[in-house]
Amino acid sequence: MAALPVFSVSVLLLGVCRVTGYTLTDQGGLGREFDGIGAVSGGGATSRLLVNYPEPQRSRILDYLFKPNFGASLQILKVEIGGDAQSTDGTEPSHMHYPDDQNYFRGYEWWLMKEAKKRNPNIKLAGLPWAFPGWIGRGKNWPYDFPDVTAYYVVSWIIGAKQYHDLDIDYVGIWNERPFDVKYIKLLRYTLDKFALDRVQIVASDNLWQPITYKILHDVELLRVIDVIGAHYPGTQTVQDAITTGKKLWASEDYSTFNDEVGGGCWARILNQNYVNGNMTSTISWNLVASYYEQLPFGLEGLMTAQEPWSGNYVVSSPIWITAHTTQFTQPGWFYLRTVGHLEKGGSYVALTDRLGNLTIIIETMSHDHSVCIRPFLPKFNVSSQNATFQLDGQFKDLKTLQVWHSKLCTNTTKPALFQKMSPITVSIHQFTLIHPFPPQGVNAYGLLNGNPLWKDVITAGPDHGWAAIGTSSFEFAQFDNFIIEAKVQ
Ligand SMILES: *[C@@H]1O[C@H](CO)[C@@H](O)[C@H](O)[C@H]1NC(C)=O
Ligand SMILES: *[C@@H]1O[C@H](CO)[C@@H](O)[C@H](O)[C@H]1NC(C)=O
Ligand SMILES: *[C@@H]1O[C@H](CO)[C@@H](O)[C@H](O)[C@H]1NC(C)=O
Ligand SMILES: *[C@@H]1O[C@H](CO)[C@@H](O)[C@H](O)[C@H]1NC(C)=O
Repeated sequence: MAALPVFSVSVLLLGVCRVTGYTLTDQGGLGREFDGIGAVSGGGATSRLLVNYPEPQRSRILDYLFKPNFGASLQILKVEIGGDAQSTDGTEPSHMHYPDDQNYFRGYEWWLMKEAKKRNPNIKLAGLPWAFPGWIGRGKNWPYDFPDVTAYYVVSWIIGAKQYHDLDIDYVGIWNERPFDVKYIKLLRYTLDKFALDRVQIVASDNLWQPITYKILHDVELLRVIDVIGAHYPGTQTVQDAITTGKKLWASEDYSTFNDEVGGGCWARILNQNYVNGNMTSTISWNLVASYYEQLPFGLEGLMTAQEPWSGNYVVSSPIWITAHTTQFTQPGWFYLRTVGHLEKGGSYVALTDRLGNLTIIIETMSHDHSVCIRPFLPKFNVSSQNATFQLDGQFKDLKTLQVWHSKLCTNTTKPALFQKMSPITVSIHQFTLIHPFPPQGVNAYGLLNGNPLWKDVITAGPDHGWAAIGTSSFEFAQFDNFIIEAKVQ
């Protein structure tokens, strides 16, 4: 596929697409460098159930996520640097439970990163702490009072990745959706460099565009040490100050939407429009794969679902194929054209090139109601039937082979077409319905710990068999590391 100039057209809707009226060219220079489409494992424990899948299902799921030219073909894998704390859907273990402790074999993120690399040696790896063990703040839940300790802790994780698993970490973040500290960020850069890890880039601050952007603009040293400004759920928009910094801009966490037809639409829209509207050159999905019980917070908000290791059942949801429209025809290091934008009657188009003459075009015409993301609020917009013509110019003037892939998310009456190879572009209106994989049914459960009854006669909606774990009152469903409990259901 890579040998031919490629032309990938995705997700068209509402009528015939006979391209007219838009010019795609590299004349006058290119746009920004593309950094890849990625997904997050963790924050927290979102891949927990995947680990226990039987073969060959587990390998197939990993193929759908990471194998090039196969499924989502992800270009970035971002993982939680476990912090011994409940970090959304469970807990991930730290590599340093206490100051003298170091162990780089806990949890499953090492395993996951190796499986990703095995399939795609070029995949970029990113790490980010959601929480820190208590000793980091000497008992306070605050990692910045002893920034040297925190920097040493994070850099140890990066060194351990290389030393014990031969994994090169490409990007490291500060503290997920929490305050950052300028002194700490500078010290992190200094510590990375001290250990000859100058190749590792710093993403900050995995929260909003501000205040990090303001700080960068008023501190030349901070400007130097930060490589990427990463914002979460930016709603396809950035701020002028972020552009002014000249830094790479990422949606370093985005999507987080139920992976049904609307979720697929959300993902298609933001993958294009994060660049078109907001100059963002990477979009990272929270999360990678919904491998946690769907009753937990943000259930089913992964690119696909694999939450039944006991049966091996998994669902390759539409976001996998939406991702493929970009990832199977680009690489990090390609460049967006400047000539990207919105279609006259709704929708957007982007185009990327490897600067060797290959061109990839991705068009989406998601309608408002079928592309709402969980956040932020989406102002109402209209998409209507239209014909559009694209004029290829500059280096692409003479492109003759245009290959076309197409997806439509289905209505109640039609089936979805996902990532189909086409010759003529003929598409029609689409939505897509997820067949809910787990019909609820009541089961009567009881629990014992060391023979002592903990609960009995509890009616649960399912699963009708599986595992249980005991946690804090607000996270009864969560699994905890270093803790095994057997549960019987009658
Ligand atoms: C940012 O995006 C806007 C809107 O597409 C565009 O006009 C502008 O040239 C971009 N700026 C940079 C520096 O990429
Ligand atoms: C496209 O990509 C292939 C392989 O990635 C490369 O060999 C070729 O030179 C590129 N350009 C064109 C016009 O095919
Ligand atoms: C969308 O279309 C409807 C019907 O044509 C119109 O009433 C409405 O103002 C439009 N909304 C926007 C945001 O353009
Ligand atoms: C698009 O082009 C086709 C073929 O020329 C035409 O039949 C159709 O009416 C056009 N649709 C719109 C919305 O202009």
